[in-house]
Amino acid sequence: MVIETLSEDVRKVVERWKDKEGNLIMILHDIQDRYGYVPREASLEISRQMDQPLARIYEVLTFYNYFKLTPPGKFTISVCMGTACYLKGAPALIDEIRHILHVDEGETTKDGLFHLQIVRCLGCCGLAPVITVDHKVYSAVKRSDVATIIGEHSKK
Ligand code: FES
Repeated sequence: MVIETLSEDVRKVVERWKDKEGNLIMILHDIQDRYGYVPREASLEISRQMDQPLARIYEVLTFYNYFKLTPPGKFTISVCMGTACYLKGAPALIDEIRHILHVDEGETTKDGLFHLQIVRCLGCCGLAPVITVDHKVYSAVKRSDVATIIGEHSKK
């Protein structure tokens, strides 16, 4: 990423939202739409251009789990940790994903293929526990299914 380009992008985004109420969150949304995540350099630039402490920007970024702080992977694995999924074994699925891919929540594998995120209730609790890989839904997933699900996407 070229820093001058990023700085110019941030300037345009700040300019667009500067007079609107609640503009910080809109600026962060806009940046994530452009880059797929909010790069640290962008946060520093927003802090400079809006004269806001960097800590305030990270407070917003970390409060909403919508925001990504690292580049997204080719595939996003979402594991539901809503009540139904939690009770039916979602924590074991997360353990298995961590074990196979060596990533934690919010991280992307070194090869850039998979990003792991934890979500709250995907709205299909009857299928618990649920994992999605991008838009594909896997239901009643068992720990032993995880390697197969990951393998399906590794070949793409
Ligand atoms: S709790 Fe997982 S889909 Fe509702």
